[in-house]
Amino acid sequence: MVEDGRRVLSNVVSSQAVLHAVYGGVVPEVAARHHLENICPVIAKAMSDAGMTYPELDAVAVTQGPGLVGALLVGVQVAKGIAFVHGKPLVPVHHIAGHLEAPALARGEDVPCPALALVVSGGHTSLFEMAARGEYRLLGRTRDDAAGEAFDKVAKLLGLGYPGGPVIDRLSEGADDQAHEFTIARIKDGRPDFSFSGVKTAVLYHVRREGIAPVADPAAAPKEIRDLVASFQRAVVTALLRRLEQTARTRRPRSLILTGGVAANRRLRADAARLAEKLGLPLFVPPIALSTDNAAMIGAAGQVAFEQGRRAGWDLDADPHLPLG
Ligand code: KG4
Ligand code: ZN
Repeated sequence: MVEDGRRVLSNVVSSQAVLHAVYGGVVPEVAARHHLENICPVIAKAMSDAGMTYPELDAVAVTQGPGLVGALLVGVQVAKGIAFVHGKPLVPVHHIAGHLEAPALARGEDVPCPALALVVSGGHTSLFEMAARGEYRLLGRTRDDAAGEAFDKVAKLLGLGYPGGPVIDRLSEGADDQAHEFTIARIKDGRPDFSFSGVKTAVLYHVRREGIAPVADPAAAPKEIRDLVASFQRAVVTALLRRLEQTARTRRPRSLILTGGVAANRRLRADAARLAEKLGLPLFVPPIALSTDNAAMIGAAGQVAFEQGRRAGWDLDADPHLPLG
């Protein structure tokens, strides 16, 4: 629940990570069923945490896409139901617009625009330019895996569990990140795109060549694995920030944004802060609770869309591939 797009009244997150950990990743069918079970209790808690009643709402914002269609459909249908019954406008929101609005929500005011935003999550790795509030332009994106997906796949390979990012982040602390040199493909056609499937495969080949067995307990991972994941993490972070720097030098933004689940990564946060200082730009990174997927960021982006007059009809459909910018 968000007020004026700038104040979080409540933000209830029902994580399915424990469920998906059993399979080493998200199973779409399982995700959709658990959305169905959890969505009404979560909304009831969000309303009571905020101390609000339905008639007091100005509008209902809902993620239209992109994402897993089963999960999106559950959200869209429930949002329609609430808006229909209570006579409220229904505002469709793009998932990434939510990530892009999270920094402004966190600081309670707009970020200086144009802003250059690196959105890094399990499903996306993109560079956006925010020319003004609510005006997003896609500059570049991954051509294969998202950065978070690479973290998750490398973790799975080593028996580190799901989601992989936080474990790799922890295991890398104090490890030798120079132990291996994993190079990340450079896109040479001039577009500020990314590619992470190569580094994942390089780790796979290394693991096979060295005969490294998956660990039974991530907390007891040997030095060999800690150095390996630290080197992998360094390669991913370097590739992300290299692109961010190149693009900042050509686009000359007034601020930088780092957002999405992978923005929780401590190495990425620290190196991005150093880069921002070098470039003389302010860096906005939402706190972790607003960086990883959450409803408050959708409320913030919903406010922007609401003010721009965006409304959905009762035929609103989920769009798993909804484009932005
Ligand atoms: O934004 P998000 O919560 O969901 C998607 O929209 O995908 O991002 C989830 C992703 C997962 O791939 C997870 O491994 C990654 O964010 N992640 C991290 C860290 N915490 C979460 N990656 C690296 N380091 C972390 N500390
Ligand atoms: Zn996300």
